[in-house]
Amino acid sequence: MKPFSARALIEKTRDKHRLNKEEVQYLVNAYVEGTLNDYHLSAWLMAVYLNGLSREETVWLTHAMRDSGVKVPREAAASFWIDKHSTGGVGDKTSLILVPLVVTVCEKWLGPGAVRIPMVSGRGLGYTGGTLDKLESVPGFSSNLTMEAATRALEQNHFFMMGQTAQLVPADRKLYALRDCTATIESIPLIVASILSKKLAENLDGLVIDLKWGSGAFMHKQEDGRRLGEMLVGVARDSDVDAVAILSRMDEPLGYTAGHALEVQECYEYICDKRRERGLDNVTLALAGWMVSLCSRRKLSVGAATEACKEVLGSSKLEEQFLRMFTAQGGDWEAFQRRRESAQKSLQHLEYRAAKAGFLSRLDAGEMGRLLWEIGAGRDQVDAQIDLDVGLEFHKKVGDAVQAGEKIVSVYHRGADVAQVEVRLGSAIDVGEAAVSGPAWLSEVIDE
Ligand code: URA
Repeated sequence: MKPFSARALIEKTRDKHRLNKEEVQYLVNAYVEGTLNDYHLSAWLMAVYLNGLSREETVWLTHAMRDSGVKVPREAAASFWIDKHSTGGVGDKTSLILVPLVVTVCEKWLGPGAVRIPMVSGRGLGYTGGTLDKLESVPGFSSNLTMEAATRALEQNHFFMMGQTAQLVPADRKLYALRDCTATIESIPLIVASILSKKLAENLDGLVIDLKWGSGAFMHKQEDGRRLGEMLVGVARDSDVDAVAILSRMDEPLGYTAGHALEVQECYEYICDKRRERGLDNVTLALAGWMVSLCSRRKLSVGAATEACKEVLGSSKLEEQFLRMFTAQGGDWEAFQRRRESAQKSLQHLEYRAAKAGFLSRLDAGEMGRLLWEIGAGRDQVDAQIDLDVGLEFHKKVGDAVQAGEKIVSVYHRGADVAQVEVRLGSAIDVGEAAVSGPAWLSEVIDE
């Protein structure tokens, strides 16, 4: 006999009554095992979409999903396990800087082996780029690690960067696919359970969440970002993970580039302290400061931790750690440089220039994301092939003065429809006469 009636559980959520822990666990486990049908879960998901879940129910859902598969095995050592999650945006490349930066600073300030970063990342979907795609633009890099290889990497290098596997949180894979075709993706408790079940399977002590809002983010309004952030932080803390969320703007692309190989090169220049775009600098250092502070179990203030991060930029130790991020998983950095040289020769260049002198007042992230997708850098289906070399370079950012005829954006493409690209850029870029200040990248921190 089945312990619960699926129909009764759907009715409860539909009528705004609370489920208990066993009922939530039953829905997840029975669906993963195949004893509940898609139509049962579809109806329940829609009831959740319409009526929400309480914080307790969201915690139980998150834990049931986390427990549907394996977890990253936790060694006995007293290191602090930390990760960051970003809701994604155009030109968002901070993970590639944060991993080497946080490892380097924690080793220096908190002692050897003080931190572990078990980073399970995704590929880009829609116009938001994925960390794995960027890493894989370095020839030879493999994100396909077995759990044994991932555990070895954590011991030896103190981090790993891998993709989702069939064994990690299978419930999320199944439920996400169902949410996608039942129009229930945009539900805060379902998003929270989806994100955190995967992060909790990493066995973390701390999590820093980068919540982006604006035209190039999946949340357009700050208050939506805040609601999601509060729930993410609350559920993570109820799961014994010290979490904070930072709300940051995504109205213009982050950094000077968008496109996978271009962004890897930009991260290299950033950590070598050769070129640091203001937005990328603000967001990365805020996230890094929080990550290091959490790793010190909050003994180091965020301000002091941020200063410590700034100090190591440009050091040979940080450069070594950055290169190790690729080489530890098979990446060949020299082959990456050869790849870039050959791409520079084979790609076509389109320069978008200012028609008049003034100040750049808009460089719309959403439009730039759509353009990236049109030139082949983004995917609309999880298994679609993408071009890792094409992309955009932003010579000017919002607030910069421009002269008539100066380059604003370069588009590196392979035979895109130039007229269409120019129309897209024209609708995304404004130059005004009045001086404007650049955006305040950081909006608020959720730490309670
Ligand atoms: N990211 C996830 O992993 N899941 C969601 O539901 C939304 C964003």
